This record gives sequence, structure tokens and C-alpha cells, in this order.
Amino acid sequence: MQILSIETSCDETAISLLEIKGGQKPVFSVLGNEVASQIKLHEQYGGVFPMMAKREHAKNIFPLFLRVLKEAKIIRQNSKPIQLKNVETILAREPELLPYFLHEIPKIARPKIDAIAVTVGPGLEPALWVGINFAKALATVWDIPLIPVNHMEGHALSVLIQEKSKKFLMTKDVFPAISLLVSGGHTELVLINAIGKYKIIGRTRDDAAGEAFDKVARMLGLPYPGGPQISKLASKIKQSKISLPRPMIHSKDFDFSFSGLKTAVLYTIRDIKNMTELIKTEIAHEFQNAVIDVLKSKTFRALEVYKAKTLIVGGGVAANKALRQRFATEAKNKKISLYFPTKDLTTDNSIMIGIAGYFQFLKKNKKGVRINSNAFQAKGNLSF
Ligand code: KG4
Ligand code: ZN
Repeated sequence: MQILSIETSCDETAISLLEIKGGQKPVFSVLGNEVASQIKLHEQYGGVFPMMAKREHAKNIFPLFLRVLKEAKIIRQNSKPIQLKNVETILAREPELLPYFLHEIPKIARPKIDAIAVTVGPGLEPALWVGINFAKALATVWDIPLIPVNHMEGHALSVLIQEKSKKFLMTKDVFPAISLLVSGGHTELVLINAIGKYKIIGRTRDDAAGEAFDKVARMLGLPYPGGPQISKLASKIKQSKISLPRPMIHSKDFDFSFSGLKTAVLYTIRDIKNMTELIKTEIAHEFQNAVIDVLKSKTFRALEVYKAKTLIVGGGVAANKALRQRFATEAKNKKISLYFPTKDLTTDNSIMIGIAGYFQFLKKNKKGVRINSNAFQAKGNLSF
């Protein structure tokens, strides 16, 4: 079967078309995949402004969609009349998209897509709405089932496409598994008892790990997004003379806190009279180490407490090289099976949304969710 998936929760507009074979133990192949990143735009402002992100999504979504159909070679000219039904109502808040539905979509024959999966949250609501309304309009005119997807479930399942192995990873024996999801908006430890059965066992009480990377980068005069910049700088040295706190590392729960660490960096910078490249490098190195120490300590304790043998790390911060190395060493010592997503699937993407959408679709006996359902509201704070 084929699933079209759409992701617009933050600053990437992403669309893909997946082919899925194998029922409960699926193998996913990517027929088409397009991403438009807004990083260059948001870089100028040091962060993402929701309304600006929304405008960019609206500008990019249809051209990307066309490119995905072309890549997948499923674009055919339409000769049948097409019912535009109530697209005008659906797109009331996205008037920029209406001309595409009035003039372009009618020229395209309905492809054999079995379902459309779309991110409904968590994320920036104005941004999410663009993807949701585009998906709703498309599902209506082509009469395709629609599936709402939780972006965080997407990150957790993003490990299901691996470069080397085509074997289905999440067979029964990998559960219970622990997933550490670390992104710009979230830092969560999730107990996974089966696909679809998630329980948050810990989360950040203030800033997300990625957010801390972004804020500290900004203090050091580095561009947005800060994670890759800090990582690059930190890798230049092996040790740092600066020392920063490891907040909550000894607390008995599985929660995190990064805002104190960020403030500690601020004070450190304030107390330095002559900032040099070397000091910046030392700060970056120590900050990164502090974040990894806390993440690693809590994650491996959670694995022990919940008697889990599998660890899945996802979300943008999981792209961090030092984090990957240190988690890999610890996992090897503790005989834990560790999975990271491939590079492209670590940061925001729509392939992971298609993967998560597929399992929802199976659960609903290959039916979509009613298009007018509350499920298709943007939910900024959607949780597991
Ligand atoms: O998952 P993601 O792409 O978007 C959200 O859902 O938030 O995560 C983006 C976050 C940003 O905060 C970015 O700075 C961080 O992931 N990030 C990194 C690295 N690459 C991206 N953090 C640390 N090291 C990296 N190499
Ligand atoms: Zn994300």
C-alpha cells in the first residue's frame, strides 16, 4: 500500500510517499521525498516565528507535493470531471492554497494512494494547520482516508528505516523499550510496551535539550539552529577547563531541567572579560558534555528500572555526534540494543510521519479517521 505523509509542525515543510509491504511486520520504501527547510529564513531572526513559518509552509507545500508525485512517477493527466466539494470551506484559513485546488489538482488523475498521514501536533499551531488543511482538502477531492499523526510518535518510530537492515526491528521481543526523544521542543523519556502503547516516564520541566543548545549557541554568537554549531565547536577539543552543573542528574525521577544550565552559561560568559575563540570552544564543549551526561544517566537508569533491553533515541538532538558515541559505548557495556534513526530521519521529516501513520491505519483496520473529527485540529501541546 502507499501512504502520502505531510509534516509542517515547525520549520520544515516535508512530504513523502511511502510504499509499505508486509502487514504487521512492514518494510517501508520511499517512493518520493521532498523537504523545504526554512532554516535560512529563521536564521536571520535567531528562532522560528510561527506566522512566518506558516507563510513559508503555504508557499512550499503544493510545489513539494507535485515534486513527490513526479519522483514517484505516479503523475497522470486527468480526464474525468472532479468534484471540488467543500475545499473552499476547508481552506478558509489557507486561502493561498485554494488556487492549486481550483486549477492544478483537477488536471492530475487521482493517484493510487491508500491514505494520507498528517502531523496534527505537537508543534506550532499556525504551521500545523497548513499541513492539516492541505491534507483535508486533498483527502476530500480525491476521497482518500486521512490519518492524524503525533509528531513525537513519528520520532520514536523513525528508527524503522535503517540503512543496513531491511528486517522489521520492532518485533515483540524488543519490548519493553525505552525511547529518549530530544528535539527543539521536547525532551521526553518514553516507555514503549508495543507500537501504539506509550507512557511518558520523564520529561523536561523547563527548556527542551535542543532549545538549550539553540539558546547557548545564541549566547556564543552562533547562528540558529545552535545544535550543529555547538557540536562542531565542541569537537575541536578533548577537555574543557570550564565547569558547568548537571541539573537533576541525581534526582530519583526521570525528569530533566536545562534552564539552570543555560543560566550557568550566561553567568559564565558575563564573568569573562576577554572572550576568545578558545573560551567559546571550552564553553561549548562543557555545555554539550553536561547535557549528554544528564541525558545518558537518566536514560540508562530508566532502562534498568523498567528492565528494558532496547533503547531508541530520536529527535534533532540525536544527530549530535558526541551523544551518539557516548550512548553507543554505554549501550555496549550494558548489553542494550541501541537504535538511532539514519541522518535524514533524525531531524524533522515526513517519512517518520508516514511510518507512524501506517500503524494507526492498521489499528483502524485500514480506515481513515472521519475528516470532520476533532482529530484534525492542530494540537500544539499534543502528548502521547
Ligand atoms: O526534531 P527537530 O528537527 O525539530 C523539532 O521537532 O524540534 O529538532 C531540532 C533541534 C534544534 O534545537 C537543533 O539545535 C537540535 O535539534 N539539533 C542538534 C543537532 N542537530 C540538531 N542538537 C545537538 N547536536 C546536533 N548535532
Ligand atoms: Zn521534531
